[in-house]
Amino acid sequence: MYTQKVMDHFTNPRNVGEIENASGVGTVGNAKCGDIMRIYLDIDDNGIINDVKFKTFGCGAAVATSSMATELVKGKSVNEALKVTNKAVMEALDGLPPVKVHCSLLAEEAIHAALWDYAEKKGIQIEGLEKPK
Ligand code: FES
Ligand code: FES
Repeated sequence: MYTQKVMDHFTNPRNVGEIENASGVGTVGNAKCGDIMRIYLDIDDNGIINDVKFKTFGCGAAVATSSMATELVKGKSVNEALKVTNKAVMEALDGLPPVKVHCSLLAEEAIHAALWDYAEKKGIQIEGLEKPK
């Protein structure tokens, strides 16, 4: 049912934890199942994501997609991070079963929410970033 990459990121998730005084923090819930994810971004003066950590209270697919999403945004610029969609995360994991696609939305939404938080704190606008629901 799950690809090897999904199993790998589920059993050995990368970047789990918190960042104190993070540049941006985003917390989102999945309306479909009630699972929750929080992401912490450490963004330097050049707008590069130096560090990222996450906590997910959710299913295995949510953990695996969160883990892969953090790997994909690490070291990237804010604008590049915006392009890390749930589709990109799923592709990087070699796919998810159809019933688990909604789980991958958590990571994308949490990254966007954390970027929004960062922009608000800095008093800047990030082009293409929509206010989280
Ligand atoms: Fe959240 Fe499955 S519904 S763990
Ligand atoms: Fe809830 Fe996967 S079943 S996030």
